[in-house]
Amino acid sequence: MAKLIIEGGHALKGQINLRGAKNAALPILAAAMLVPEPVRIGNCPRLTDVEHMVGLLKALGCRAEWAGEDLFIDAGSARTAELPEGLAGSIRSSVFLLGPLLGRFGAAEAPYPGGCDIGNRPVDLHLKGFRAMGVKVDEASGRIRCLGRPRGGAEIALEYPSVGATENLIMAACGAEGDTVLVNPAREPEIDDLMAFLNGAGFDMRREGSSRIRVRGGRRGRATAHAILPDRIEAGTYMVAAAITGGHLVIRGGRKEHLSAPLTALKEAGCRIRIEGGDLDIEGPERPRELRRLVTLPYPGFPTDMQSQMFALCTVARGTSVLEENVFEDRFRHGAELRRMGADCDLRGRTAVIRGVRSLHGATVTAHDLRGGAALALAGLRAEGITVVERAERIDRGYADFAATLRGVGAVIRREDD
Ligand code: UD1
Repeated sequence: MAKLIIEGGHALKGQINLRGAKNAALPILAAAMLVPEPVRIGNCPRLTDVEHMVGLLKALGCRAEWAGEDLFIDAGSARTAELPEGLAGSIRSSVFLLGPLLGRFGAAEAPYPGGCDIGNRPVDLHLKGFRAMGVKVDEASGRIRCLGRPRGGAEIALEYPSVGATENLIMAACGAEGDTVLVNPAREPEIDDLMAFLNGAGFDMRREGSSRIRVRGGRRGRATAHAILPDRIEAGTYMVAAAITGGHLVIRGGRKEHLSAPLTALKEAGCRIRIEGGDLDIEGPERPRELRRLVTLPYPGFPTDMQSQMFALCTVARGTSVLEENVFEDRFRHGAELRRMGADCDLRGRTAVIRGVRSLHGATVTAHDLRGGAALALAGLRAEGITVVERAERIDRGYADFAATLRGVGAVIRREDD
């Protein structure tokens, strides 16, 4: 376990280089299973979630080796389609392997993922899609057993544009002989990065307008190299760090087209933002303005993965902000922690009403989930006195060297590991 100890009140100043996106790296690592030849994944962030996925791939017989931020995977030696029990902490990631295992071996078995820190996270849409491809799915005794090579010819309409289901179904469809069409797929840029990796590896898929993806079957995976796209959530988080401290940061290597909803919200909060190429130059106001109504939605809507960080920003805004969380049902646990630091907020179901206060004060708070934990650290950067964020190892799931990165731009923050 780890904690972050933060002395607030220092405006951040300097440059931060973005790393590769966690939410692209995880499905791309899983997709390496479809390729029985070596692949090189560049700009791969070294995060605990990524290490868990590497552990799962090795448990399935793949070879994996790091060279700096390049990860080499050779799935040619994979022999089993059955994920073992007891890879603690990896259960969620194991779901991403169902599609590629089906595509490669026509069989897949994994522990049932169950709930998690931000609410119940069902996989019904993933399994329904597999069934539509002719796969037999059995969910008895806490395990998911899938059997049968995905058949081509299916047109699968997703009732909700789930990111994970879209990725899993694309990967399963790579193993079919004929075409598979997904209707109402997720539109997140990380999906396009996965498709770019798979197209580079010899598969064939594309979007048809914004509401369909066609995967052509009958292809075989071959060696390839791919660089992961920059992490838009990491970019957004460090932009909030500038915003909440009244600081001035240049976030390097970003893609503004993937950040339009967060950029709009940060401008509404009074930030000055200039963009030149991949440099996002952001200056925070002395005190942010309130956000009248921020609603999380599937991409291109405002990302749920940025809700907690904006929540932290709103706690010190001039007026009252309203946040509505529409993607996950239990994603306001940071609200109760922020109250310990003096925040004034009401949480009811999917809505948070946050009355901005002039200042927060340091307190001992707990990171219940990855993004919520990052939000508490951001609040600590602004608060008067010392903030201690406990269970900070949860932040490592999505940010490489979080404390060191912030220290590099003037934050007074240190980490203690038990
Ligand atoms: C991914 C991201 C996560 C992000 C989320 C939404 C990764 C590793 N994780 O998660 O960081 O917060 O997208 O942008 O890429 N749902 C169902 N049935 C299903 C699948 C999903 O009801 O079979 C529901 C979920 O309960 C949730 C919503 O759909 O309410 C969104 O989930 P989904 O888009 O699937 O998110 P993840 O892929 O889990």
